Amino acid sequence: MARDGAHYVCQSCGGVHAKWAGQCPSCGAWNSLVEEKQSRPPGALKPAKARGVIFETLQSETPEPARILTGIGEFDRVCGGGVVPGSAILLGGDPGVGKSTLLLQAAASAARRGARIAYVSGEEAVEQIRSRASRMGLADAPVNLAAATALRDIVATLKRERFDIVVIDSIQTLWSDAHEAGPGSVTQVRACAGELVRLAKSVGTAVILVGHVTKDGQIAGPRVVEHMVDAVLSFEGERGYPFRILRGNKNRFGATDEIGVFEMGDQGLGEVANPSALFLGEGGARAPGSAVFAGIEGTRPVLVEVQALVAPSAYGTPRRAVVGWDTGRLAMVLAVLEARCGLGFGDRDVYLNVAGGLRISEPAADLAAAAALVSSVSETPLPQNCVVFGEISLSGDVRPVSRFEGRLREAAKLGFDHALCPVLPGRKGAEAVPSGGFGLTGVSRLGEAVARISESRFEGSS
Ligand code: TYD
Ligand code: MG
Repeated sequence: MARDGAHYVCQSCGGVHAKWAGQCPSCGAWNSLVEEKQSRPPGALKPAKARGVIFETLQSETPEPARILTGIGEFDRVCGGGVVPGSAILLGGDPGVGKSTLLLQAAASAARRGARIAYVSGEEAVEQIRSRASRMGLADAPVNLAAATALRDIVATLKRERFDIVVIDSIQTLWSDAHEAGPGSVTQVRACAGELVRLAKSVGTAVILVGHVTKDGQIAGPRVVEHMVDAVLSFEGERGYPFRILRGNKNRFGATDEIGVFEMGDQGLGEVANPSALFLGEGGARAPGSAVFAGIEGTRPVLVEVQALVAPSAYGTPRRAVVGWDTGRLAMVLAVLEARCGLGFGDRDVYLNVAGGLRISEPAADLAAAAALVSSVSETPLPQNCVVFGEISLSGDVRPVSRFEGRLREAAKLGFDHALCPVLPGRKGAEAVPSGGFGLTGVSRLGEAVARISESRFEGSS
């Protein structure tokens, strides 16, 4: 350690180093190390005597405190069944996606249910929040509203008032006078989040921190806060679409990968109980290049339309554009279609779009993307009531995926009666089928799927 407990913190990755350097040894960023002094309380220079650690049993003697339900069902579910008292939650998302709106609604709803809620904003003035609340019909909710950015004041108040939930909007606007760095810097964000998390544990107030995501998709520049908090939620949405997805990325008190779906309207966010209907677009005849993917998001099956367009390229280098899916994954599916099925994309532009603004990350979407691409190339629409799912391997195999039944059941619920999917090993597909004459076209190789689609050969389709 350098003199006086000083150390150097990288403003880009959050790495802590004993010595200053022009380039961060952790992430390689230039000129990003900033000195941070550790303020030691006077008289604490002499190391204290160790007291030993007391071990406990796994079984708790005190009953688990009841979770605080905000009454916004989608939010509570993503939190793992309500907010745990004394926990710290980070809600990340792009500026303007609706984080403040969501938390104001959750705060108002929880307050109406009798919880003691504080909403501290460093971004907006009290009047602004009030006018938004009145537009959303929340003005009468007993939320304690404040505009503040000084950490010291906020902490002192929270110690005194003992709220059930405190929303801090946002962590980047907070400022601790124990550090010289400006608000929003890694040093400040780390210090403020650390202090609030400690406070949450000690007074039993649940703290929800809002964090804006930077261009490269990381919260507060680096992910300095993620490891401190109990749950990391992200709020996502594509520009131009009203749908917003609340996703649990880390949760010490519940399942991760859980999603909540909302729709942004002129009165704030509305919960979407049946997301499949939303992401399917309009009914009517399915056009070539469209496939319905039966996916699983968190614990819920969700049907989404995957659209592909393959067109002759006007330039030397063909274009590949993807919305809502992984570019690398598309490149892989295209390569497998070329190498194993003899389809050429070298002189064609490929566009792939996931309808409704959802982002899919499941490998089971491979076959749906491939089906949409093949359907577009062959100009043959898939059967109207057909869902598609399955993972594709580099060798061209179509691999089974998890939650077979759940996917089919959701499809059946929405009026689909047919699936193009992997063959389940050791099991007849029909056994997994919901009652009511579901047609299954099981394929074990991508080539089979290509032939089936381009020749419109499906089992028992209507
Ligand atoms: P906001 O919650 O301020 O975003 P964040 O806190 O993530 O930066 O949301 C701002 C956007 O939401 C803004 O573009 C307007 C839109 N909006 C609506 O469409 N309807 C509404 O009722 C509200 C409150 C906001
Ligand atoms: Mg905001």
